[in-house]
Amino acid sequence: MGKVFVVGITGASGIIYGRRIVEEIGKTAEVRLIVSDTARRIGRHEGVDLDRLPATREGNEDLAALISSGSFRHDGMVVAPCSMKTLAGIAHGYAETLVGRAADVTLKERRRCILLLREMPLSRIHLANMLAAHDAGATVMVASPAFYHRPRTIDQLVDMVVARVLDHLEIPHDLPVRWGGYDA
Ligand SMILES: Cc1cc2nc3c(=O)[nH]c(=O)nc-3n(C[C@H](O)[C@H](O)[C@H](O)COP(=O)(O)O)c2cc1C
Repeated sequence: MGKVFVVGITGASGIIYGRRIVEEIGKTAEVRLIVSDTARRIGRHEGVDLDRLPATREGNEDLAALISSGSFRHDGMVVAPCSMKTLAGIAHGYAETLVGRAADVTLKERRRCILLLREMPLSRIHLANMLAAHDAGATVMVASPAFYHRPRTIDQLVDMVVARVLDHLEIPHDLPVRWGGYDA
């Protein structure tokens, strides 16, 4: 059987990150995709089409979905972008949505769970929730691209972040974003 990943796209700016991650994972593995209502609205505003993606769709209100159970085996979950609200829910086990519940079981089953956050500045509440999520086993990442590969386009900036997420899920990719030393 091939690999399966759960992807949540929630209501933070940077819906393009979620879209690119699904596109890349979808090349080699199955994606179970949850899109929150706010994410869908922000996606429309940011001009990011979430309709034609290589993924099986799950409703964020469907708490009876297979991925809401720890008995559903998968290879990891990523929430990208992850809103501060969804971070708060995950950090405290408040599994009111399918994204929150799927992350909750991913953590309890000790599978990889990556939260790609986007907010600035960060309040004490945000920072405390980031630490709580980290301590519960999540990998907390921020949508903060590096510039050493001299990006010229938004797509290149986005892929710098996407590549780091794929690396942490151990998904092979050929995005040209690795540090090659000063002479490269
Ligand atoms: C246009 C727009 C942009 C937003 N950007 C962010 C953001 O970058 N980070 C964040 O944490 N929340 C952001 N929010 C707020 C969240 O969308 C809001 O807290 C929402 O309840 C999150 O719900 P969800 O996590 O279930 O999608 C934004 C909202 C709107 C309407």
